[in-house]
Parts: sequence; structure tokens; C-alpha cells
Amino acid sequence: MTPGPVPVPQKVLEILSEPMEHHRTPEFQAVLKRVLTKLPSVFGTSQPAFIHTSTGSGGLESALVNVLSPGDEVLSLITGKFGDRWAKMAEAYGAKVTRVVTEPGRAVTVEQVSAALQKNSNFKIVLCQACETSSAVLNPIKEIAAVTRKTQALLLVDGITALGAFPMPMDEWGIDCVVGGSQKAFMLPTGLSFISFSARAWERIETAKCPRFYFDIRKERKANQGGETLFSASVPMIKALEYVLSEIEKNGIESIQARVQKLAQATHLAGKELGLESFSKNPSPTVTALTVPDGIDGVKLRNEMENVHKVVIMGGQDELKGKIIRIGHMGAIENKDMLVTIQALGETLKRMKPETFTQDRIDRAVAACKKALG
Ligand SMILES: Cc1ncc(COP(=O)(O)O)c(C=O)c1O
Repeated sequence: MTPGPVPVPQKVLEILSEPMEHHRTPEFQAVLKRVLTKLPSVFGTSQPAFIHTSTGSGGLESALVNVLSPGDEVLSLITGKFGDRWAKMAEAYGAKVTRVVTEPGRAVTVEQVSAALQKNSNFKIVLCQACETSSAVLNPIKEIAAVTRKTQALLLVDGITALGAFPMPMDEWGIDCVVGGSQKAFMLPTGLSFISFSARAWERIETAKCPRFYFDIRKERKANQGGETLFSASVPMIKALEYVLSEIEKNGIESIQARVQKLAQATHLAGKELGLESFSKNPSPTVTALTVPDGIDGVKLRNEMENVHKVVIMGGQDELKGKIIRIGHMGAIENKDMLVTIQALGETLKRMKPETFTQDRIDRAVAACKKALG
């Protein structure tokens, strides 16, 4: 029940265990062609979408190296650990980074972005997480895209815990680049990242001076146009991706997104009944962060849930370690998984602080979860 890697469907496991095929074969090329035809619709774009054999961070690196020139001014909107890391990555490639850092648990506001863009007209790039997984914060990407569009800056969005899980139509909102990761809403193991660039970004790609090789998107595009990937393709993962994309097509992306939303709602309501506050003031549908109450050791809470109840959730990272717990809402999660999680959370809290976490509270939390799931 973590915000990634998520539980994967049984069929994905079966596809991943099929005999290995070579990637330069007509059979695999047909799979790749179908996948690359379907993938852009998840981004909401008419531009091509690409697959990198890398974790999500590779996709974030690809976004940067393809549009950045050393010395470029970059505005980095930071709502947690992953925003901070992307800013450092930009600096590693020679960007001059200005940071807007929010209070923990708060989303960046469009006013903050507007003010920063007005103060300095030299920004070439704006970086933002759609969902900052470390704090479960949802940022107002649509509004940020609208103000960024009025400037020369390109908006690059880390959609690793967003793409596919909630609506973020790239073309309609005017986003210049979105990055996704396989271990989130795509219900696959970790190992692929997905990326697409706007027409405006493609102009920049042609003139950007950053050194690039593995992630050179111009070469990847050329290879894809010829029916191949630039380097060896992760055949099993791309075959499993084809299955997931066909399921998305069959069931409709809206129904998958509604399911994510419903699981988030059920977690929030159950948390409320247990007396646990949402850490995020603008919670993401993909992950819920609950503040660990005073007198409870959050690390112990998480470990006990795993060791005693076999329910894996996440804790806080870095300075949030022990202070929050995080429950993910993406992937092949059934109602019973959600109910077991809430039950396990309640029982663990009860063992740790019985005077506060009574059986009555646990029962109410489970009932609220059940009702929300319908
Ligand atoms: C928002 C966000 N950005 C970046 C990353 C890093 O992705 P990866 O660990 O796949 O490289 C994660 C991972 O969870 C994430 O949630």
C-alpha cells in the first residue's frame, strides 16, 4: 500500500515471466509500435511520447538535459524531497537555480509563481512536481502552466506520481514536458520512465547545449520512427506496458482515475475517524500522508504494520521520518486491501496507545472506509 512501487496485476506478472524475446525482431517491433501509438493519450498530447529504460529519475534527467543549456536560469518550485532533488539535478548540469520552497505540507501557489516570474524575466525553465510524493501535496499545475506560458520559460512537470492517475492534459493545459514512472499508476514494476515534450519544448531541444547521450531525445525519436528503441529495449516491461495500456483503453482512463480518487477519499475518511490529521493541506489523490499523533513512534508504527499485519505502507522521508505515514492509492488495489490496511493501522495504534485508540474508533474508521468504497 505504498505510493510506488505499487501492487501489479496478476496478468502483468505472467507477461513478465514469459520467455525472453530479442528487441530487434518484427514481433517486438509490432508491440513497440502499438505501445508508442497508445502512450501519448495518457499524457493528453498529440506529440510523441517516449520510453526510457530507467527509473523515474532518469526521466527527470532526460527532461533537463534535452532543454537546458548550462548557465540557464531555472525556477524550481519545491514542495518536498523530490522537488529539492530535481533542483540539485539541474544544478549538476550547470543551471542557475532559484528556489521557491513552501512550508511542509503546503502546495505552491500560483501567486508565488507569478511573483517569481515577474521579478526575473530570465527564467528559461520552471520545474514542479504535480504530486510531491514525499509530502502528498498536489500542486496547481494547470494554473502554473497558464502563468508560465506567458513567459519564455518552459514548464517541466514531474508527473511520476500523477501521470495516468489523475487528469493533467498536457496540450490543453500548456505543459511543456511531463515525466512518468512505471511503478506508479502504470501498475508495473520499477524500471521504465515515460516522457513527452510540447512543440515549444521541441524548438528548445534543437538549440539546448547540455551534453546528452543516453537520454538524447532526438536520437530516440529517430529510432522510434524507424520502429526501434535507441538502445536495448526492456522487452518484458514493454510487453507488460502494452497490456496495461490496453486495459486503460478498455476500461477508460476516467474509471481508473475515479478509482484512485475513491481510495484516497476512503483513506481520508478512515483517518479522520481514527483522529489522524492529513499532513498535506492540498492532498493528492495518489497518496495520503497522515500525521503521526503525539506519543507514537511513526517508524515503529510502520514496522509493526509490516511485521505483525503484513501491510506495507511508507513512512516520512528525511526530516519527516517518524512524523507521517503515507498510504498509496495507485495500482491493483482491491477494496479488501484497503479495509485490511485501515484495520491494521487501527489495531497497531491501539496496541501503542490504547487509551486513545479504542476499539470503537477502529470500528468507525473501518465502517467509514467501507462506506466510501461503496
Ligand atoms: C514525485 C517523484 N519524483 C521522483 C521520484 C523518483 O523516481 P525513481 O525512484 O523511480 O527514480 C519519485 C519516486 O517515488 C517520485 O514520487
